[in-house]
Parts: sequence; structure tokens; C-alpha cells
Amino acid sequence: MLRRCLNLMLLAACAWAAGMAIADTDRPTKFTNRDTIGNTRHNLTQRQASGGPAGATMDSFRNDYEEVCVYCHTPHGANRTVTAPLWNRTMKTNTYQTYDLLGTSTLTQPVTQPGVSSLTCLSCHDGTTAVDSIINMPGAGRYNAAQETQETTDFLNSWNNRRGPDANVHGRLANTECVSCHSPAGGFSGLGATDFTVFAIGTDLRNDHPVGIRFPAAGPGTDFKDPQRRDGRMAWFDGNGNARPDSNEIRLYNAGGGDGYEVECASCHDPHGVPSAGPGSQFNATFLRVSNTGSAVCQSCHSK
Ligand code: HEC
Ligand code: HEC
Ligand code: HEC
Ligand code: HEC
Ligand code: HEC
Repeated sequence: MLRRCLNLMLLAACAWAAGMAIADTDRPTKFTNRDTIGNTRHNLTQRQASGGPAGATMDSFRNDYEEVCVYCHTPHGANRTVTAPLWNRTMKTNTYQTYDLLGTSTLTQPVTQPGVSSLTCLSCHDGTTAVDSIINMPGAGRYNAAQETQETTDFLNSWNNRRGPDANVHGRLANTECVSCHSPAGGFSGLGATDFTVFAIGTDLRNDHPVGIRFPAAGPGTDFKDPQRRDGRMAWFDGNGNARPDSNEIRLYNAGGGDGYEVECASCHDPHGVPSAGPGSQFNATFLRVSNTGSAVCQSCHSK
């Protein structure tokens, strides 16, 4: 624990935690997963209208922009280096270890580096970029073009948390950072932090369902189902037949470059949360487009 404390340079909080009982079991999420992304773990302001995690613990580790969307989107000054919707996040150039490097004999389709509909997620989940590293902070004169591709600590430090202490550590979803509290081994779980170990997926994707992988020719006689609908950019399983890719429909992305329709993170997950257990239901806690009860996510694509 001492080493983790030193990594965080958080000696005051360490001393505080050291005096407390350390719980080594995970706790349930404090979010209700209902109605809006504001009630999910993708609300990084950590203050809900009713209840929810207290922000105080988090304030030293990430800027509290007080707006849910701004950690990912901005109406102006969005990232010009990626074709993601009004994207406000820093996008570093990383090389990922892709699933095909595992060398299973059964994989038939070409795999590329993750496409944009995975890179958006990986800009937090691979643990290389601070979760609060954005280009355009709320308020006037808080835009920094260099942030499109680099994380500038001075710029991030220029933000003042109104509702608590300022952040001088801008945490990443990585072991020595956010996960140093958010893990059973991470000393601070005695403060009530939930376990994020499996969600910090890193840049090694060999143990994850392949992304950046082409969807094979489907239909009768193959063991893939045919997405009924396609436009140039997307193919999707149009469950309700309305000819639109609804958020509760599994989809494939065609980012161009001749790679065709590919599986990406957002094929299976909607980062805003989907009430995928039916109308009025609780959001699926893991942001899945369809509930995976009975392996329904898998069977959207695989005929097995
Ligand atoms: C000093 C320890 C500490 C660090 C570092 C920390 N957290 Fe937390 N976090 C907590 C605690 C404690 C809670 C629970 C707060 C409560 O009980 O009200 C929490 C709650 C959360 C929650 C809500 C979890 C849920 O489902 O209820 C999220 C999401 C979260 N933190 C994200 C982060 C991110 C992202 C980082 C890195 C930028 C981070 N945390 C760094 C201690 C920490
Ligand atoms: C944790 C990051 C994150 C947050 C927070 C977030 N979004 Fe998104 N949003 C995304 C990603 C990623 C996409 C692209 C999904 C894809 O590749 O299809 C997206 C896409 C969108 C789109 C395009 C259409 C669609 O639904 O996919 C809209 C509109 C949108 N977001 C609005 C919002 C609004 C409004 C908020 C705040 C209430 C918000 N988002 C918060 C990550 C986020
Ligand atoms: C702004 C940073 C950020 C972006 C961008 C982001 N996430 Fe997250 N995500 C988090 C944090 C923080 C958590 C809460 C800590 C955790 O569970 O790892 C989280 C949690 C999750 C969880 C676990 C929820 C649960 O309770 O089981 C899933 C699944 C997830 N994200 C998927 C995605 C996908 C898919 C995308 C892209 C479409 C994405 N995220 C984009 C920061 C982000
Ligand atoms: C083929 C569908 C599919 C793709 C593609 C996919 N996921 Fe998931 N993901 C799932 C399912 C299903 C679960 C739920 C697993 C469970 O509940 O045990 C999940 C769970 C998660 C979790 C929660 C932690 C866990 O292991 O339960 C995170 C975080 C996550 N996914 C992020 C991502 C990111 C980031 C990507 C892209 C690199 C991605 N996912 C691509 C289907 C997918
Ligand atoms: C969006 C469509 C899609 C979804 C949803 C999906 N898969 Fe896949 N899956 C693929 C594609 C495409 C391949 C690559 C097939 C190939 O190379 O022949 C694949 C490959 C696989 C493989 C073979 C890997 C190998 O080494 O040969 C397994 C196993 C697998 N998926 C399991 C799952 C499971 C389990 C789920 C549900 C959690 C799931 N898939 C959901 C599209 C999907």
C-alpha cells in the first residue's frame, strides 16, 4: 500500500486511510443506472441529483467540470483528428496488441488496429490518458488546441474545482492511478471505492473480444447472422424495423479505408447507457446495447 500511496503523492489521504478498516470485497455501484447517463458510472462529476458517490474523495484526482457530457463532447472546438461526434477528448496515438496476435486457428477475418468507435472508449479505458484530459473546458477562453493529441498538465491544472479541492493529479484508469483506490488490493477501498480492476483494460487487447475485425459474409449456411440494414458507415440488426440504428441495436462500423464493416467497442456498448431490459427498465449496468441474458449479445451476430 505504501508504494501505491507514494505513486499518488497523496500522503495525507494515505495517513487517513491507514487508520481505517480495509474492506477487500467489492461494493455495489452507488448509481441507479436509470433514465440518463448522469446516473451511471460515465458521470464523472460524481454528484447526482439524488444520492450517489460523494465528490470530495475524487476531487484531488480529476477536474470536476460539473457537466456530464464535457468529459467526452464539446459543442465547439472539438477534436479535428478523429471522426467521432463533437469529440472533446485528447486522442493519443497508441499501438494496441490486437486479438489476432494470440494466433487462434479459428479466426478467419482480418484484424486492424482499433477503429474510431473503439478508440473513443480506449481514450479512457486503456489507461494512457487522464479521464479529465479534454480540449475545451467549460467557460470562455478555456480552449487548448494542443490538447487534441497531448495531455498538458499545466492546462489541466488551470481548472479550479468549485465544489472541492483542486486536482493536482489527473488520474488515468490504470493500476497506479484511479485503480490504486478502486481495487481490493488498493488500500483505499476502505474508503468505499468500488473495484475497477477489470475495467482498466490497458493497451493489450489479446484477452478481449476482437475489435477492428471485419464482419464476415453472413446469411444462410454461415454461422453469422446478416445485419438487415446497411448504410455507408454502419450495418445494424434493425430489431424494430424502423430503418434507423437505434441505441438498443447491435451494430458494425465501416470507418472507410476498405476495411468494410467491423466490430468495435460501440458495436456492443452504448456509452450513454441503454434501457436494454425493456421499456422503463433499469439501464444495463455494463452499457450493453442489448441485455446479455441468454447470451443475446453474442447471438445477435453469431448463429451458435
Ligand atoms: C483516493 C481514492 C480514490 C481515487 C484516487 C479515485 N477514487 Fe473514485 N471513488 C473513491 C471513493 C471512496 C468512491 C466512493 C465515494 C462514496 O462512497 O461516496 C469513489 C467513487 C467513484 C465512482 C462511482 C463508483 C460507483 O459506481 O459508485 C467512479 C465512477 C469513480 N470513483 C471514478 C474514479 C476515477 C475515474 C478516478 C481517477 C481519475 C478515481 N475514481 C480515483 C475513491 C477514489
Ligand atoms: C464517457 C464518454 C461520453 C459521455 C460522458 C457522453 N458521450 Fe455521447 N458519445 C460518446 C461516444 C463514444 C459516442 C460515439 C458512439 C459511436 O461510436 O457510435 C457518442 C455519441 C453521441 C451522439 C451521437 C449519436 C449517438 O447517440 O451515438 C450524441 C448525440 C451524444 N453522444 C450526446 C451526448 C450527450 C448529450 C451527453 C451528455 C448528456 C453525452 N453524449 C455524454 C461518449 C460519451
Ligand atoms: C471519459 C472517460 C471514459 C470514456 C471515454 C469511456 N469510459 Fe467507460 N468508464 C469510465 C469510467 C471512469 C468508468 C467507471 C470506472 C470503471 O468502471 O472502470 C467506466 C465504466 C465503464 C464500464 C463498466 C460499467 C459497469 O458498471 O460494469 C463499461 C462497460 C464501459 N465503461 C464501457 C465504455 C465504452 C464501451 C466506451 C466507449 C463507447 C467507454 N466506456 C468510454 C470512463 C470512460
Ligand atoms: C462483441 C461484443 C463486445 C465488444 C466488441 C466489446 N464488449 Fe465490452 N463487454 C461485452 C459484454 C457482453 C460484457 C459483459 C460481460 C459480463 O457481464 O461479464 C462486457 C463488459 C465490458 C466491461 C466491464 C468489465 C467486464 O469485464 O465485465 C468493460 C469496461 C467493457 N466491456 C469495455 C469494452 C471496451 C473498451 C471495448 C472495446 C475495446 C469493448 N468492451 C468491446 C461485450 C463487448
Ligand atoms: C457485432 C457482432 C459480434 C458480436 C455481438 C459478437 N461477436 Fe464474436 N465475433 C464476431 C466476429 C466478426 C468474429 C471474427 C470471426 C472470424 O474471424 O471468423 C468473432 C469471433 C468470435 C470468436 C472466435 C475467436 C477466435 O479466436 O476464433 C468467439 C469465441 C466469439 N466471437 C465469441 C463471442 C461472444 C462470447 C460474444 C458475446 C459476448 C460475441 N462473440 C459477440 C462478431 C461478433
